[in-house]
Amino acid sequence: MYIKPETLRLDRYLSAQLGISRNDAKELIKKRQVTVNGEIAKLYDMKIVTGSDIVSVNGNEINYRKYVYIMLNKPAGTVCAVKDELSPTVLELIPQELRRKGLFPAGRLDKDTEGFVFITDDGELAHKMLSPRSHVDKIYYAELDREADESYIERFEEGMTIDGDEKCLPAKIELLPDRKKVYITLHEGKYHQVKRMIHALGNEVVYLKRVQIGGLPLDETLPLGSCREIMHKEIEKIYTK
Ligand code: URA
Repeated sequence: MYIKPETLRLDRYLSAQLGISRNDAKELIKKRQVTVNGEIAKLYDMKIVTGSDIVSVNGNEINYRKYVYIMLNKPAGTVCAVKDELSPTVLELIPQELRRKGLFPAGRLDKDTEGFVFITDDGELAHKMLSPRSHVDKIYYAELDREADESYIERFEEGMTIDGDEKCLPAKIELLPDRKKVYITLHEGKYHQVKRMIHALGNEVVYLKRVQIGGLPLDETLPLGSCREIMHKEIEKIYTK
């Protein structure tokens, strides 16, 4: 994928790429810890051309990215928010090398839900991904209190009404051989939607995990609480069926 080069001041470049303040970036330059194309950088406002100038901090080259896209395997007990007074947020699980200003979770999972959370600082892409017009499905694995039966399939397909008057789009439920275990595909994201749909059928969700967003599955090798960067090619998968 071609990425158009940009020209940025060195202190802004460091601040954006390392998720540090502009003052901290200046400090690194002052302490002669930053090189540009192999030469120690002396000026905060030196112009950096992305994609061609090589910037290193303490000998480690910075791999320039305009935006970052992160796949997190969210553990229960964390909240999908940028800040929270009471609970740890998903952003606190992001390792230093991927941290940046402006990161936020695109879409929410409940505090007790596990699985795939997409985190980025690319507002435009997140907005597009969350828009119902993009038709990005979400797939969940759920464990239920009681066994599901075939009637669930039709109820999901016809579009259920939950909590009296809230109409859901047609959705899909797949029953696994152990009938207390199911996969559910939603085309929208209403508040507590999976739990409320199952509740409307007289059952309850006892465990919930998001396993796929659009055509991109959660990386099975990713332990709970860990994350990895999503590459451009994989982002395109989000929009495939
Ligand atoms: N549906 C729910 O009920 N909870 C989630 O976290 C996601 C979908």
